Amino acid sequence: MFLSKLVITNALMLILFLSMYESKGASNSSGSLSVVNGANINPPLAHQKVNVSVYYDSLCQSCAQFIIRDLKNVFDSNLISIMNLRLVPWAKAYINKTNSSISCQNGPDECELNSLESCALNLWHKVDIQYELINCFEFLAIKGTIKKWKEYCLDPLGLPKELFLNCFNMGNGTQLGKTYIDQIAHLSPSPSFVPWVVVNNQPVGKDYANFAHYVCKAYRGVAVPQVCKSPLK
Ligand SMILES: *[C@@H]1O[C@H](CO)[C@@H](O)[C@H](O)[C@H]1NC(C)=O
Ligand SMILES: *[C@@H]1O[C@H](CO)[C@@H](O)[C@H](O)[C@H]1NC(C)=O
Ligand SMILES: *[C@@H]1O[C@H](CO)[C@@H](O)[C@H](O)[C@H]1NC(C)=O
Ligand SMILES: *[C@@H]1O[C@H](CO)[C@@H](O)[C@H](O)[C@H]1NC(C)=O
Ligand SMILES: *[C@@H]1O[C@H](CO)[C@@H](O)[C@H](O)[C@H]1NC(C)=O
Repeated sequence: MFLSKLVITNALMLILFLSMYESKGASNSSGSLSVVNGANINPPLAHQKVNVSVYYDSLCQSCAQFIIRDLKNVFDSNLISIMNLRLVPWAKAYINKTNSSISCQNGPDECELNSLESCALNLWHKVDIQYELINCFEFLAIKGTIKKWKEYCLDPLGLPKELFLNCFNMGNGTQLGKTYIDQIAHLSPSPSFVPWVVVNNQPVGKDYANFAHYVCKAYRGVAVPQVCKSPLK
């Protein structure tokens, strides 16, 4: 079913994997540090948050790396506290108007994974749960073991499987895909590559790996997270 188009050396994956665990510990210590500094005691008002949309395709390698590495930092550094993060798969998919079937940039496997991720995004509205699932899917996709998504991604989070399987198997993920494709078609300018990161309606273009900088700059609230206070690269 899923044949991963993503090939990364095992060594690189090991580094990624280890750094995921390392940064888990670091995140907690930096989290408590900012509380000590009094920076994050009050959550910012929702309307002050910076809107960040990430348009991507599930089997695009640069997208997977962005999700696994750069978006991980958003959660570890608590930058997420000032963001409304919206993940939008199907960025480069298109609908054949003759028979209304969807084609994906990286083939049918990608359409399948996009559907899976659409179900995750629509069944669970908490961004940290959405992220954990999609991060897990992308991680497996890179390793070429996406078939293990049930036991590796769904089970550990303790999420109700029935609902998810229902969404996926009934084709709701694909239906959602049509909605996403329609939204993407209305973007101006339209994405010229992926991941396409938009911060408060402004695409950051090729500088997407550095998007935290744009988020900090756009933020107008008072609960500035520590990560925005340290010098950004
Ligand atoms: C983070 O640290 C706090 C206090 O040091 C602890 O209570 C909490 O369980 C830790 N959270 C995680 C996710 O490790
Ligand atoms: C769209 O689907 C029709 C009918 O299956 C097919 O003949 C046509 O080549 C497709 N168009 C594209 C652009 O894939
Ligand atoms: C639509 O056309 C595509 C491309 O020609 C084909 O692969 C697909 O099976 C068709 N889908 C449906 C629902 O007929
Ligand atoms: C799937 O779509 C159908 C029809 O639109 C809807 O009734 C059902 O609740 C959806 N299921 C899930 C799990 O989203
Ligand atoms: C962020 O998105 C919300 C909801 O879509 C919207 O109401 C708000 O105006 C947006 N904020 C900015 C700064 O664009």
